[in-house]
Amino acid sequence: MTTDSSKKILVVDDDSNFLKLIRIRLELAGYEVVTALNEDEAIAIAKEKIFALSIVDLKLVRRDGIALMQEMHSINSLMPIIILTAHGSIESAVEAMKKGAFNFLNKPFDPEELLLQIERAMENQRLVSEVRRLEGVLKERYDFKNIVARSEKMKRVLDLVSRTAGTDSTIYISGESGTGKELIAKAIYYASGRRDKPFVAINCAAIPETLLESELFGYEKGAFTDAKRSHGGLFVQSHQGTIFLDEIGDMPLSTQAKLLRVLQEKRFYPLGSERPVEVDVRVIVATNKDLEAEVKNGSFREDLYYRIHVVPIDLPPLRDRKEDVPLLAEHLLRKISQRIKKDIKGISAMAMQKLMLYEWPGNVRELENTIEHAVAITQHDIITEEIILPSKDLRTEPLKPLNEAVDDFKREYLVRLLEFTKGNVSKAAELAGRYRADFYNLLKKHNLKPDDFKNLDKEKSSQRTSIPV
Ligand SMILES: Nc1ncnc2c1ncn2[C@@H]1O[C@H](COP(=O)(O)OP(=O)(O)OP(=O)(O)O)[C@@H](O)[C@H]1O
Ligand SMILES: [Mg+2]
Repeated sequence: MTTDSSKKILVVDDDSNFLKLIRIRLELAGYEVVTALNEDEAIAIAKEKIFALSIVDLKLVRRDGIALMQEMHSINSLMPIIILTAHGSIESAVEAMKKGAFNFLNKPFDPEELLLQIERAMENQRLVSEVRRLEGVLKERYDFKNIVARSEKMKRVLDLVSRTAGTDSTIYISGESGTGKELIAKAIYYASGRRDKPFVAINCAAIPETLLESELFGYEKGAFTDAKRSHGGLFVQSHQGTIFLDEIGDMPLSTQAKLLRVLQEKRFYPLGSERPVEVDVRVIVATNKDLEAEVKNGSFREDLYYRIHVVPIDLPPLRDRKEDVPLLAEHLLRKISQRIKKDIKGISAMAMQKLMLYEWPGNVRELENTIEHAVAITQHDIITEEIILPSKDLRTEPLKPLNEAVDDFKREYLVRLLEFTKGNVSKAAELAGRYRADFYNLLKKHNLKPDDFKNLDKEKSSQRTSIPV
């Protein structure tokens, strides 16, 4: 639907003479008018085209105008609707307003009054869009500022984001869980020309397979037992805007086939419907799975993979861009302490060291949770000892007597310290928070020689930089 929808009005009334009359009036005033004589016709038309406004008679043959209005709003929730009521039926008019009508007009109507109402509804609509657009502009600044990217890898990601956001190309975001896929998807949306139009996000893994298709593409009344009324679906809701299909690797094959068709033809058939719906939607997908492998094992369609793999953006895991950790930690600390209203000023050097050494299997999200936990429990205005990181999972190991287990743990800890400091005892002692002499004694007790760690090849030591704490 690329024609100008800003002048299109849909009028629903079962009186054809009335429709003729109102058409003449509205066309003279420069509007484009489409009329419908009954509910079914109105719904079918509303699904195919986007209207700037609709005028609905309260008294229709089979249902009342309010029910029709609600169904039309489930197709396009933003369209203002003016209800026409018989003289004196003030109660129904009030009910219509409560249920979402923009306004009501008595029949027979005063033509001047009608045009005034239409102008007002449209002006209101424009204001709503303008507010959204401005919010978007603010958000854009805010959101780009909110993405921490010191490492070259992340700078390249942001560069790609700003170069492609303004296009309509499909964006394919991949990355481990917690690397910021959703954050990047939103940043793209806010930086795009569609920022004042809807952003609709759906997590394909969170919706039961059987519901995903109707959730995305909508259904016709009666398409299945519970379909009491038609439902527009998320693709319709995101018309002219952006849809974010998160965890697309979890989309069932049957839904993949339908999605492929939407991407190719820009239109689709809601469940149980024979009328196609045309949509103009920018698609962003995200996955933490290796979709190429999924294609090879047959659980993801190859043709769909190539359709969506247009602009790939790969978010590197946090352990491969450790230089982002300090800035991220400070940024998350500010964000969290603001949110939970605790004035925490910073993170101590020792605590930051701990954060730098950890491998972050859960990426930025895990860092965020760690800091949130520390902020919540700290009684100081600086985070120090409160940083708690998971050590390796002891539950999977056979149980040993406590003393033995503690000794094992200590030895392993010392080994890692020495590996990390390449046998520098002063540094290792400082990291462990012990005096140098104490530390020597500990090493002796565990039969460890610092010299053994001095000439470790680089490869090995850089792989083992995490310290269980
Ligand atoms: N570069 C970054 N700068 C600032 N905050 C970030 C950054 N990356 C991620 N975050 C924050 O980390 C959290 C996790 O990010 P997000 O939800 O976007 O990740 P995801 O890849 O979608 O994760 P999942 O796979 O778990 O859904 C969010 O609170 C997000 O704001
Ligand atoms: Mg996510």
